[in-house]
Amino acid sequence: MDKHTGMITDMHLGRQMVDERLHEQFAEAGASYATLVESMRYSLLAGGKRIRAVICMKFCEAAGGRIEDALDAACAIEMLHTYTLIHDDLPIMDGDEIRRGRPSNHVEFGEFTATLAGDALQAAAFEMLTNSPLSPEAIVEMVRLLAEAAGPHGICGGQYIDLSGEGWQLTIDELLELYSMKTASLIAAAAKMGVIAGYGTKAQIEAAHQYAASIGLAFQIRDDVLDCIATQEELGKPIGSDEANEKTTFVSLLGHAACEKMIEKETQKAIKAIEGKFANTEFLTWLAQTLAKRTK
Ligand code: IPE
Ligand code: IPE
Ligand code: MG
Ligand code: MG
Ligand code: MG
Repeated sequence: MDKHTGMITDMHLGRQMVDERLHEQFAEAGASYATLVESMRYSLLAGGKRIRAVICMKFCEAAGGRIEDALDAACAIEMLHTYTLIHDDLPIMDGDEIRRGRPSNHVEFGEFTATLAGDALQAAAFEMLTNSPLSPEAIVEMVRLLAEAAGPHGICGGQYIDLSGEGWQLTIDELLELYSMKTASLIAAAAKMGVIAGYGTKAQIEAAHQYAASIGLAFQIRDDVLDCIATQEELGKPIGSDEANEKTTFVSLLGHAACEKMIEKETQKAIKAIEGKFANTEFLTWLAQTLAKRTK
């Protein structure tokens, strides 16, 4: 097996572990609120690249732990991420009707169910984290990191700037802050939670943060580019959503060529940030390079 094929296999195995665990955790419920649980399952088990989960598990391994030690944390992160996508698609937010290759949650289940499915997935994420087979100190730190990433200084604050900025031209600095909050904060939490699950050092937590801050920014810029150049079939979500919502993005502000340059620069920064900080950074280096060129 060549190196590249080995990395793809690793990525695939990580995704598979997460998908299996999430299926186990989210059995169909026969209760009076069965439809709410069904709507949570609908979005959570619809696929998704699971890159945040894989980042968490691979940082755990890089820090000297076992991939399995970070599995619950990885699942919790994907649950929280799925909540943000369900809410992001609601008519009062981006108003997008396709997600992960199928009708968005609110299109399938209606708006109040979709709203509650998001709320419940966020709560369930924290519950799952507390069941993780790690020391109480590690769990408390992971809960703190996830809460920080999800709250007003992270995803919610970022989404607030994103939505209240519609129809206005934001500056590059405003956009950098917005991307670091709405997207990079959760990726950074995933990376740092992985190091914590592997009982890594403070220096490793800092390196993981730097890596994720850079690939998080590159990831959102790539998302903006794909919103212009990909197809709905490949992406599994609508194309042209940003323009329709009059969002400022790096594409609208600087154009495609400058976006490619920024993605490349942030990818190199990410790779440098972890160099020599962990016993093995081969996969994480490959992942940063692969995400920079992703087509979905
Ligand atoms: C979509 O995230 C939201 C962004 C931050 C751009 P992903 O592209 O990771 O979505 P899934 O999880 O694969 O569906
Ligand atoms: C991602 O930004 C925001 C989230 C935190 C969910 P987008 O609004 O660009 O994400 P997509 O393109 O709908 O996945
Ligand atoms: Mg959005
Ligand atoms: Mg959106
Ligand atoms: Mg987008």
